[in-house]
Amino acid sequence: MAFIHLDIRCLYAILICTAFGSTLSSNSEIKVSPPEDFEIVDPGYLGYLYLQWQPPLFLNNCEECTVEYELKYRNIDSENWKTIITKNLHYKDGFDLNQGIEAKIHTVLQGQCTNGSEVQSSWSEATYWTNPQGNVETKIQHMDCIYHNWQYLLCSWEPGMVVDVDTDYNLFYWYEGMDHALQCADYIKGNGKNVGCSFPYLEEPDYKDFYICVNGSSESQLIRPSYFILQLQNIVKPLPPDYLSIIVKNSEEVNLEWNVPKGPIPANCFIYEINFTEDDTTTWTTTFENEMYVTRTSNESQELCFLVRSKVNIYCSDDGIWSEWSDIQCWTDGLQNEVLSFLIPFTLVLSFILLITCLLMTKHKALLKMGFEDDKEFKAPKNGYMALELCRSYDG
Ligand SMILES: *[C@@H]1O[C@H](CO)[C@@H](O)[C@H](O)[C@H]1NC(C)=O
Ligand SMILES: *[C@@H]1O[C@H](CO)[C@@H](O)[C@H](O)[C@H]1NC(C)=O
Ligand SMILES: *[C@@H]1O[C@H](CO)[C@@H](O)[C@H](O)[C@H]1NC(C)=O
Repeated sequence: MAFIHLDIRCLYAILICTAFGSTLSSNSEIKVSPPEDFEIVDPGYLGYLYLQWQPPLFLNNCEECTVEYELKYRNIDSENWKTIITKNLHYKDGFDLNQGIEAKIHTVLQGQCTNGSEVQSSWSEATYWTNPQGNVETKIQHMDCIYHNWQYLLCSWEPGMVVDVDTDYNLFYWYEGMDHALQCADYIKGNGKNVGCSFPYLEEPDYKDFYICVNGSSESQLIRPSYFILQLQNIVKPLPPDYLSIIVKNSEEVNLEWNVPKGPIPANCFIYEINFTEDDTTTWTTTFENEMYVTRTSNESQELCFLVRSKVNIYCSDDGIWSEWSDIQCWTDGLQNEVLSFLIPFTLVLSFILLITCLLMTKHKALLKMGFEDDKEFKAPKNGYMALELCRSYDG
């Protein structure tokens, strides 16, 4: 009963839709119009745009239908459309504002009112393009952003290829959570011009799109702005590991250890590259741990050395930047070397003391001789005499 009742209501709905629909054909085929007032709105977030629309006209009567919208959008130079199915009247996403944006949307009716099949409206289209002011050659070049140790964001750039001397650039940034785009507060200067930005502390800026715009001004020409979308966790450059140590277990086994770089990066987010040298042979390996076992190829190798660098691993980001290499840590085989390294300075110091003593004694001897001539009862101290003897044997 309920089903039949529903069916009858749906039939009414179809009739009403058909009666009021603007895109009717003569037969009983169901039609629906596209959404109204489809537009792309730029709230000033440097690439994060709102796509919004109103329901199609005459839809209110079709209550038994599921009304959905199929939204497609892309940057104009891109091949592929991104497709979204939604029941909402808006959608938000990030776009590359260096390019134009095009989007289209249509209404999709589904359910009992369409007798089970899917009915689509025609497309409603919209485009958006920030006024492409200025020549392309006035854009900044070689933009480079590094999120140092997952803490400090630094970006740097070079001026455009063809710009007048008075040209200066400004950086603006925005990410979800900020009220509005902000200008860089701490520019890095080069020849009195802005060539980089040292960002302040950022609250939870990772795992989301981070939008940057570098635009500029000049008295004589318009400057083309450049837009960037970053994911900060993918441009992290960690500190190099420190406190390296080599533990030689026996003639074959060697254990290499180092400290996890200090800072906010969790220990399980690192991958390390190890450069291990045994005498003249160098090998490279990677590991997720902050230690590693290696086997000596020869138990007669004299010197083992290694250094490490770190990067954020694939479990914590899609990409990363290798840290600088750590300081080198070496282990040298054999007592001989240690003894030698102790003996050489020791011998040097001993010889030096002896030399000084001899010099003093020689002077003393001269004084003594003079003293003898003055006072025949003077007796040279026993120790001094012995030192003199030692000097003679040392000299000759
Ligand atoms: C609905 O489907 C039934 C059976 O498939 C068919 O007989 C009927 O004509 C359809 N009605 C409409 C309005 O398409
Ligand atoms: C640069 O971009 C910011 C943020 O969009 C804007 O407020 C400012 O007016 C722009 N400056 C120039 C010179 O275009
Ligand atoms: C080195 O290894 C060889 C073969 O295993 C063994 O005969 C020799 O005693 C080892 N030398 C040292 C210094 O351990």
